[in-house]
Amino acid sequence: MYVCICNAVTDRDIREAVQQGALSLKALREQLQVATCCGRCAGCARRCLHQALADPQQQALA
Ligand code: FES
Repeated sequence: MYVCICNAVTDRDIREAVQQGALSLKALREQLQVATCCGRCAGCARRCLHQALADPQQQALA
């Protein structure tokens, strides 16, 4: 699903960024430009980030 409409960022993009080492919303902003336009997606992006960080499969890959 799309998390950030402005920059066409999906929840999958966020999971992949976490796999590549993103640990914060700031890191997601720098990598994916999520929440850098209108900012309305910041809360959803943060939730996706936390879900990805809490996912045991993600942690195994880290
Ligand atoms: S929806 Fe993400 S910056 Fe606008």
